[in-house]
Amino acid sequence: MRPIGVFDSGVGGLTVVKELIKQLPNESIVYYGDTARVPYGIKSRETVIRFSIENLLFLLKHDVKLICIACNTASSFALPVIKKHFKVPIVGVLSPGVREAVYATKNKRIGLIGTKGTVKSRAYELEIKQLDPKAKVFSVACPLFVPFVEEGLTSGKVVEEVAQKYLAPLKKAGIDTLILGCTHYPVLKPLIKKIMGPRVTLIDSAKQVAIEIKKILAADGMLKEKGKCRHKFFVSDNPEWFENLASTFLGRDVLNVEKATSDV
Ligand code: DGL
Repeated sequence: MRPIGVFDSGVGGLTVVKELIKQLPNESIVYYGDTARVPYGIKSRETVIRFSIENLLFLLKHDVKLICIACNTASSFALPVIKKHFKVPIVGVLSPGVREAVYATKNKRIGLIGTKGTVKSRAYELEIKQLDPKAKVFSVACPLFVPFVEEGLTSGKVVEEVAQKYLAPLKKAGIDTLILGCTHYPVLKPLIKKIMGPRVTLIDSAKQVAIEIKKILAADGMLKEKGKCRHKFFVSDNPEWFENLASTFLGRDVLNVEKATSDV
């Protein structure tokens, strides 16, 4: 049976893989982390689209049956442009989280945190407005969160002060729902929850993405419901760095990460 392909700018996409393994335990996964060119969050739209196409072509060489763009920045910039050019189903991380947020909000004030690229693209805002034109969206870029998580700084004075500063405008705006629009942010969930308080619902799209992928595969008769699976992990640079960080995102170790390049 053909595997599911997942790509991300680096290691963060493993938060999505974690949910996929949980909800689709018999599916094999081929993961590609573009660690040579990470971060995508500060790159231009054109560059992120080019990298995304290259990553997609890499996964297609592994005969994947569906591709998940686990990176929020790549989903925001590239998915709307590239989707129509490929036959393989491509699932991004925005729509599932948006649907959940629109469903969850009571006061129609939704917050979004993400990379600079994701916020600049306004892709979340557009999708939310399409579902509910009356919803108000408040977006804040939190560029330091990614390096904090990668350095293992998920609690303590420094990260808390920065988080307080980033999240202050969202608290002031009176949002009742907050989308964690970046692969790394689920790792900071306890801290974000502490700052935003119990009345704000945090939306972590990884779970919804896995549910959506399961639905698509079932509808296309491609769901693998029994038998063994085998996961493969590729990165464009520094497999050791990836292996060291993997358990922070996946909750378990990843071994035998291979180096491979996607650029054409
Ligand atoms: N994976 C990226 C995202 O979800 C975060 C890291 C990066 O900037 O590349 O937007």
